[in-house]
Amino acid sequence: MVKIILGGCSGKMGRAVTASAEENPKTEIVCGVDIFNNGSLKYPVHENFSQVTEEADVIVDFSNPSLLTDLLTYAKEKSLPCVLCATGYSEEQKAEILEASKVIPIFSSGNMSLGINLLIELAQKAAKVFGSSFDVEIIEKHHNQKIDAPSGTALMIADGVSKVMEQEPQYVYDRHSYRRKRSKNEIGIHAVRGGTIVGEHEIIFAGHDEVLTIKHEAHSKEVFAVGAVNAAAFICGKEPGMYDMGDMLAEE
Ligand SMILES: NC(=O)c1ccc[n+]([C@@H]2O[C@H](COP(=O)([O-])OP(=O)(O)OC[C@H]3O[C@@H](n4cnc5c(N)ncnc54)[C@H](O)[C@@H]3O)[C@@H](O)[C@H]2O)c1
Repeated sequence: MVKIILGGCSGKMGRAVTASAEENPKTEIVCGVDIFNNGSLKYPVHENFSQVTEEADVIVDFSNPSLLTDLLTYAKEKSLPCVLCATGYSEEQKAEILEASKVIPIFSSGNMSLGINLLIELAQKAAKVFGSSFDVEIIEKHHNQKIDAPSGTALMIADGVSKVMEQEPQYVYDRHSYRRKRSKNEIGIHAVRGGTIVGEHEIIFAGHDEVLTIKHEAHSKEVFAVGAVNAAAFICGKEPGMYDMGDMLAEE
């Protein structure tokens, strides 16, 4: 049985992970960490990691970057692997995660669904074939409660495509402040917010008289929750280092 401490357990994703872990006979949530607790969860909920007394094998986090330092301090002290699923980490926090991965295994992905990871592979193939003759633009859509923009997933897609581009591209988020033509060496990234959209990501390769679009739609939060629970089982027993969906898929 994989025993999980769940960061952000009271949130939308925390509740979806709770349901997925309950359905999975190999996983159990031993406690949660969340500043909000309405008393409806079956396991103990603590306000921070210093209050945790339960024995666990792994931490899964869907809270907020503000919990990161507390989480990593506890994980390093207890030598616990972590699955970090929150988005919106600053550059300093990304460095903090990398530093911690020297002593504990850390699985980090801005998107835990299989489909998005496949989209990135397909987009990399397209970018290699088209080279610099096609313009790359990414459009993401999410519900009106999402705080960060662009989404961590949009950045993941952009980073994945950048890796195979001939020249390192510049990310352009906001064209209204410039009056100039689009340069070849850029990736435009656009965020749409509205209603209850769970998550849509589209990458377009626009060339002369033809456009290729690759699109992924998440219809429920369950896809991310199942991916996170699987990642929790995957990361247990691994050597310190950084891991992502690619590593998990390669092992399957
Ligand atoms: N990696 C993925 O596949 C994926 C998928 C969906 C959402 N996300 C990310 O997961 C995060 C949570 O998403 P959500 O929709 O569940 O949000 P949410 O606002 O519904 O839930 C966040 C929870 O974290 C708690 N929280 C926030 N700051 C905290 C802190 N400092 N200490 C303790 N608890 C704290 C809040 O009380 C809340 O219950 C976001 O960053 C979101 O972008 C990632």
